[in-house]
Amino acid sequence: MSRPEGAPLLASLPAGYRALVVGARGAIGSALVDTLRTDQRCGGVLALSREPGRQGEPAIDFNDPASIAAAALQLRPQAPFHLVVCATGALHVAGRAPEKRLADLDAATLAQAFSINAIGPALLIQQLHELLPLRERALLGVLSARVGSIGDNRKGGWYSYRASKAALNMLLRTAAIEVARRRPLAVLVALHPGTVASPLSAPIIGDADAATPAQAARNLLAVLDALPAEGASGTFHAWDGSPIPW
Ligand SMILES: NC(=O)c1ccc[n+]([C@@H]2O[C@H](COP(=O)([O-])OP(=O)(O)OC[C@H]3O[C@@H](n4cnc5c(N)ncnc54)[C@H](OP(=O)(O)O)[C@@H]3O)[C@@H](O)[C@H]2O)c1
Repeated sequence: MSRPEGAPLLASLPAGYRALVVGARGAIGSALVDTLRTDQRCGGVLALSREPGRQGEPAIDFNDPASIAAAALQLRPQAPFHLVVCATGALHVAGRAPEKRLADLDAATLAQAFSINAIGPALLIQQLHELLPLRERALLGVLSARVGSIGDNRKGGWYSYRASKAALNMLLRTAAIEVARRRPLAVLVALHPGTVASPLSAPIIGDADAATPAQAARNLLAVLDALPAEGASGTFHAWDGSPIPW
C-alpha cells in the first residue's frame, strides 16, 4: 500500500499523536520505531522490548506475564497512546524448526508458541487498551501472519506457528468487540507484514523475495492509517491493505 509523495505518515491521527511499539528490538519493530521517529507530527514513540528502553521504557517478556501488567502501570502517566503496535512473535520456538508433520508435534513447543504468539499479545491488549484515548481515533495493530488464516491454509505444516497465530486472530477479534463499547473510535486489527527479511524469516525464506523491514514498516503504517473509522476493527489485513480470510 503506498502513500502519495509528501503525504503525512499517519494523517488519520491527531497532530502530536503518541505511539508505542512492543517488540521494538525486532526487525519490523525497530523499523516501525525508526519510521515513526522521522514523523514530525508524532509527539513521542516509546519502544518496548525484553530489555528496558533508552527512555526508561519498562521491559516486557511474554514468558513473564507479570511484566506486562507492571509495564502498563508504569506507562499509564504517559497515556493516551493513539498508536500501539505489537511486533513480537516467534517461528522457531525452543530451538525447534516449524513442524512439517504430525509426528513432529511436541507439547512443550506448542505451549511455548501459544505463549509467545497468542497469550502474550492478548495480555498486552488486556493491559494496553485502557491506555488508548477514549474519544479520539486510536489504532492498535498486532502482527499476525497469513499462515494463521484457517481459510487460507492449503499447504499444511507449521502447526504451532499457524495455530498460535489463528488463536491470536480470534483473541484480537474478540477484544475488538469488547473495546468498541467504551472506545468506539479505536480500531484493533491483525496484520500480515508480508515476507520480510528478519531473524525470524532468515532460516526459511532462502532466495525468496523479501521486503526490507523499513518497507514493511511503511506499508503497515499506511494500512493502519487507511482503516476506516467504522467496520474495520476486528479485521485481518495484509501489508498491501487487502483483507485476509480468517
Ligand atoms: N518476517 C516475516 O517474513 C514475517 C512474516 C509474517 C509474519 N511476521 C510476523 O511479524 C512479527 C515480527 O517479526 P520479525 O520478522 O520482525 O521478527 P524478529 O526480528 O525475530 O522480531 C521478533 C520480536 O519478537 C520479540 N519476542 C520474541 N519472543 C518474545 C517474548 N517471549 N516476549 C516478548 N517479546 C518477544 C523479540 O523481542 P526481542 O527484541 O526482545 O528479542 C523481537 O522483538 C512477528 O509476529 C512475526 O510472526 C513476520
